[in-house]
Amino acid sequence: MEKFDIHVFPALPYAYDALEPYIDARTMEIHYDRHHRAYFNNFTAAIKGTSLDNSTIEQIFSKVSEAGDAVRNNGGGFYNHVFFWENLAPKSAGPSAELTAALVKEFGSFDKFRELFGNSAKSRFGSGWAWLYVTADKKLAVGSTPNQDNPLMDVSAIKGTPLLALDVWEHAYYLKYQNKRADYVEAFWNVVNWEEVSRRYREAVK
Ligand SMILES: [Fe+2]
Repeated sequence: MEKFDIHVFPALPYAYDALEPYIDARTMEIHYDRHHRAYFNNFTAAIKGTSLDNSTIEQIFSKVSEAGDAVRNNGGGFYNHVFFWENLAPKSAGPSAELTAALVKEFGSFDKFRELFGNSAKSRFGSGWAWLYVTADKKLAVGSTPNQDNPLMDVSAIKGTPLLALDVWEHAYYLKYQNKRADYVEAFWNVVNWEEVSRRYREAVK
């Protein structure tokens, strides 16, 4: 994403029903306007009057182990959802030639990448996120994080620059898919904003 403002709760980049039938309007409304907004409000309250209030989100995440659970959970929840909304879109073309080549190089084929990413999403126990990200040595990797952690955090087992996120908390899919997380993960591929993911890749490997 472009410069992330820690003091702004951004508008959803599309209407609640824009991703129907893959993500339903009711889920989008509750997810954005209740869950996401609560993370933002709680994060704002947690950093108010501290030195973090004048930091970038990257600075905060790089030392989040020192900031406490309220900042870790709510800062992650705030950032991850902004990141997630931006990597979804009603109309999904494919990844750029550059990103496609990198995916094939790293994973063998685009389908193999989808399978590995999907497995990360489906096998994350409990609540969390699946990620495609770029490692410090500029290689693509897939993995998952628990709760609201992300690859920018010093506490994360996977580290790098995120490109694509998938929310696998039950609040992201339960109304439409109930316990069938695998169906939600499959549907997700219909609404990936590959233009944005490709842009993030270009930035990450510059
Ligand atoms: Fe969520």
